[in-house]
Amino acid sequence: MNIRRTATRALLLLATWALAAGAMAQPAAKPAKPAASAAGPGTQYSAKGADTCISCHDEEMDTASFTMTRVFKSKHVQRGNKHSPFGPGGLQCEACHGPGDRHSDKNSNAKLTINSQKPDSFMTVAQRNETCLACHQNSSRTGWHVGAHNSNQLACADCHKVHAERDPVMTKRNEAEVCYTCHKQQRADFHKGSAHPVRTGQMSCSDCHNAHGSTSTASLKKPTLNQTCTSCHADKRGPLLWEHAPVAEDCSSCHQSHGSPRPALLTKSTTQLCQQCHSAAGHPSVARTASSLPGLTPAPGGNTTLGGSVFLLAGGCTNCHSQVHGSNHPAGAKLMR
Ligand code: HEC
Ligand code: HEC
Ligand code: HEC
Ligand code: HEC
Ligand code: HEC
Ligand code: HEC
Ligand code: HEC
Ligand code: HEC
Ligand code: HEC
Ligand code: HEC
Repeated sequence: MNIRRTATRALLLLATWALAAGAMAQPAAKPAKPAASAAGPGTQYSAKGADTCISCHDEEMDTASFTMTRVFKSKHVQRGNKHSPFGPGGLQCEACHGPGDRHSDKNSNAKLTINSQKPDSFMTVAQRNETCLACHQNSSRTGWHVGAHNSNQLACADCHKVHAERDPVMTKRNEAEVCYTCHKQQRADFHKGSAHPVRTGQMSCSDCHNAHGSTSTASLKKPTLNQTCTSCHADKRGPLLWEHAPVAEDCSSCHQSHGSPRPALLTKSTTQLCQQCHSAAGHPSVARTASSLPGLTPAPGGNTTLGGSVFLLAGGCTNCHSQVHGSNHPAGAKLMR
């Protein structure tokens, strides 16, 4: 058995080498239109399905990064489910890899006759994804074609490992690691002092984003940023008796979404944060404005106390205006109760 396989391998290696040598003479081999005789996926499915495939592909092909036979333990194998590749009438391996009769001929060029679903494939990303979408074109991927990942040529298999018993990206705790392989800045953000608890596995990127794309900014799950936030922070959703305009408009005018070195994910420390929009004339915050921010007129009465009003220590403006998200108290007009 092993001897026969080794012999077959040797033959295949020779065949592959011969073709590779051929390809070298003609270096600009166009992936889209390979020479008909040597390349291009077949159109016929193999007569014996997976049995044909595993006659050559078995656990001996397992490497550290890839496990062939685990696919049989994955969610794709549901013998009673007619939608499963391995269900009644299913095309088995070829449901994802396309017709493989030609590839299964040991004289064919193994790399140029099958949809490998891998980045080095001769097939385009769109062609590779097509086989997955044939079964998975449901509601959670309606945004795929307009999404940033599709327009940046991501393949389904860039995130999904379907040969794994458990696809890492499908586990809340492991999902972010998959995303961080490309989104390095986000890894740094989620390690800052104040951050949504993604690092501990309590939350994942897909709590806020649809990785498949959506019509919202930044592929958010909900139609707007605020709706995304208030889907968990319902207490910050109006209507309130006294609203604070920027809260109802855009949480991100004060908060980072991922992480911040300041408490409560704030974009700036509170005094500066508030004074982006509010002048402090005639108000307890005047002292700070006058003394610690350059370029501003001195406070009335010439108060030049360094460090500003004692009322602005620690919590800053929110020492008094504690209901910064709005108030339901009859006397809460100034967001103090
Ligand atoms: C006669 C033996 C043989 C049979 C039968 C066979 N393959 Fe292959 N297959 C190979 C060899 C050899 C390679 C190249 C391996 C390499 O170079 O890493 C390969 C490569 C592949 C690849 C990866 C291609 C790439 O570009 O990396 C896939 C996917 C694949 N086979 C799927 C299948 C499927 C599905 C079937 C059943 C329809 C099948 N194979 C049947 C021998 C076979
Ligand atoms: C649900 C879809 C799906 C099914 C079913 C499936 N595969 Fe795959 N296969 C993939 C994807 C996607 C990849 C790309 C590698 C990766 O990201 O895991 C792949 C990769 C491969 C490779 C290339 C491995 C390498 O790293 O060179 C081989 C060979 C292969 N599959 C053979 C098979 C065989 C044989 C079967 C049936 C027993 C099968 N596949 C069933 C989706 C599938
Ligand atoms: C023949 C149809 C078919 C094809 C082709 C197919 N799938 Fe699936 N897929 C299924 C079925 C059925 C399930 C199980 C759904 C369930 O459990 O509700 C599934 C489940 C999944 C899941 C969820 C797994 C989990 O752990 O919950 C992912 C992710 C997935 N498929 C990705 C892919 C990718 C990527 C491809 C292409 C490489 C692909 N599928 C090709 C039918 C298919
Ligand atoms: C950028 C990474 C990424 C890419 C690319 C990607 N997915 Fe997903 N996919 C995910 C994540 C994350 C989840 C889990 C989402 C969740 O739990 O809400 C998921 C879930 C799924 C599921 C199971 C739940 C469901 O929505 O039905 C299927 C099936 C699936 N993806 C198929 C695909 C297909 C098909 C493609 C290619 C067209 C694809 N994915 C491309 C990240 C990705
Ligand atoms: C293979 C690389 C890759 C992986 C893996 C990846 N992304 Fe992306 N992602 C990109 C590229 C490329 C873009 C577009 C350019 C950019 O905005 O950086 C993008 C854009 C985004 C955007 C902005 C979308 C928009 O509409 O502006 C979000 C959100 C995102 N990715 C989330 C995720 C999540 C969540 C995951 C993990 C489930 C993930 N990405 C995995 C490459 C990747
Ligand atoms: C609490 C919700 C939330 C979580 C969790 C989350 N994001 Fe975001 N993300 C957002 C929002 C909101 C934006 C839009 C930011 C803006 O417009 O101010 C965004 C923007 C992005 C962007 C676009 C570039 C940028 O920074 O504006 C990428 C890429 C991204 N997120 C990736 C990720 C990744 C990767 C994860 C998981 C590691 C993740 N996000 C987790 C809410 C979230
Ligand atoms: C999926 C649920 C979820 C969504 C969506 C969500 N959050 Fe959170 N948020 C949390 C959890 C969980 C915590 C941590 C609470 C804790 O540690 O007690 C948190 C904490 C916070 C904190 C306090 C952080 C700190 O360090 O004290 C702020 C501010 C915040 N979220 C703002 C937002 C904003 C803005 C959005 C929208 C971009 C948003 N959240 C979306 C679940 C969510
Ligand atoms: C005008 C600036 C501003 C806007 C806009 C804003 N916040 Fe805040 N938020 C703050 C400040 C300041 C704190 C810190 C509160 C403190 O120091 O007592 C805070 C704290 C939080 C906290 C943690 C403490 C708590 O009250 O639970 C959450 C969660 C939060 N904000 C969510 C949101 C959400 C969701 C939105 C959008 C609907 C939003 N914020 C809009 C300024 C703002
Ligand atoms: C993005 C701009 C913006 C930021 C940042 C901002 N505010 Fe406001 N704030 C407004 C607007 C707009 C109004 C409504 C003004 C009006 O109705 O005349 C308002 C109203 C108020 C009011 C009620 C004023 C009144 O006359 O009834 C108070 C108090 C207040 N803000 C305090 C704060 C504090 C404290 C912070 C910092 C935590 C802050 N604001 C940050 C824009 C902002
Ligand atoms: C020591 C308590 C205290 C602190 C600290 C404080 N305020 Fe006030 N603020 C008040 C009071 C009291 C009023 C109501 C004045 C009135 O009704 O005439 C007020 C009113 C306001 C108003 C409404 C406009 C007005 O003048 O009536 C705004 C806007 C405001 N404060 C912003 C801020 C900002 C921004 C900060 C931080 C830089 C801040 N406050 C710090 C007590 C405080």
